[in-house]
Amino acid sequence: MMSMDSKIVYSIQAYNGTDHDNVCRYIAKHDDGRQNPDDSFYVFDLGELTKLYTLYNSLLPRVKTFYAVKSAAYDPLLSALMELGSGFYCASQEELNQVKRLGVRPEKIMLSNPCKQISHLRTAKEHGVSLLVFDNEYELRKLKEYYPTSRLLLRISVEESEKKKMYSTKYGAAISDARELILMAKGLDLNVVGVYFHVGLCTIDESVHYQQAFADAKELFDFSEKNGVSLKLLNIGGGLRSTNSNLRQTVSSINLALEKLFPTSKYPDLDIISEPGGFFSKTSFTLATNVIGKREFKGSDTQYHYYLNEGIYGAFLSTFTLPKELKYFIMSKSIEKRSATNSKLWGPVMNCADKVIDKIILPELDIGDWIFWRNMGEYSFACSTRFCGFGTKSFYNVISNNDLFLFQQLQKEKSSCFIFEKWTPYEESEKVLKF
Ligand SMILES: Cc1ncc(COP(=O)(O)O)c(C=O)c1O
Repeated sequence: MMSMDSKIVYSIQAYNGTDHDNVCRYIAKHDDGRQNPDDSFYVFDLGELTKLYTLYNSLLPRVKTFYAVKSAAYDPLLSALMELGSGFYCASQEELNQVKRLGVRPEKIMLSNPCKQISHLRTAKEHGVSLLVFDNEYELRKLKEYYPTSRLLLRISVEESEKKKMYSTKYGAAISDARELILMAKGLDLNVVGVYFHVGLCTIDESVHYQQAFADAKELFDFSEKNGVSLKLLNIGGGLRSTNSNLRQTVSSINLALEKLFPTSKYPDLDIISEPGGFFSKTSFTLATNVIGKREFKGSDTQYHYYLNEGIYGAFLSTFTLPKELKYFIMSKSIEKRSATNSKLWGPVMNCADKVIDKIILPELDIGDWIFWRNMGEYSFACSTRFCGFGTKSFYNVISNNDLFLFQQLQKEKSSCFIFEKWTPYEESEKVLKF
């Protein structure tokens, strides 16, 4: 990131006529910008982000996006989403400050954490960010004391299966409590503007959960109207992925519920917003890891063990909690001649829990070979620790010329903070295996 006349500027390498994998391999071989040539790195594809933004809006035409900053708080991604017209859902003071620094207007920001640190609440007030969330009486009283003019969204819990209970034990009011909270807020002269739910990734049948969540939200809209509280906002949370096979089905159940319960004829002024995180971040980043060590265990079930410079204390931490299918390709000088064997992948940290994959079939690799992991944007560097001094520090920004055309067409903000540099990442290719 550069700063010209105090304006934030990012340079993006714009390339022609090659594919994303080739670009990643080229960067691995040309070590510009990394501290060490064998350091791991991420490649951010602005073109992929632009296509995802277009896709999201075409799937959910009535819904405005407030990107969940926590999923990947990467400045160029945030600035690009700002220029495409997205709002932002922040969880903390640091995220509020980050989007503010990038120039996001306060009306495009919400502080979505239902249990907020008081100092973070003060920061929201100083920045003029007025859309906040609550789900209990104590938070309501806190809001009355520290930010009585805020606009409040009431978060309700979403039914989850016993086995995969993720959110409802921590956040969200049950429907009966929600009714009382609306009356309590009215009594305190606080401004409740809408209802909010988050179905999330880990529910078993998203369509069913959405139906129930929409039905509960509608009940609260009706209840509020009867009690003289006019609601104008519905927040349907995050949880969608472009890579999910049931995406279209889930989206059609959302659109159907909106049409049935919140038709434009009855709710012409209703604002519907959502908080996609992984939808935008997941496939926008590829992670490149270097094979930094190798051991052979003759006669063992897993013959070769490889040590990568990223592990579960770093980029792979979220693979524990998210249903992530790891997809990768390899760049090696000698891969072609080798037969495939059972292998194990370790991270770099001197701790035996740092295992990336227990058993994987790979051709024999050499130290210095690269493994590139696709779809590594969501909750990857966001959750990384610096344990033992490891962790990825380098990011590269790229876009194909075709996607650049699309991005520039869609940009809403005229004063772009992107500089596109012509780039020709071509050369004799090494052997690549795709999985
Ligand atoms: C309340 C809420 N909204 C939005 C998100 C973003 O979810 P995702 O990245 O799955 O879209 C999360 C993620 O945990 C969340 O808890």
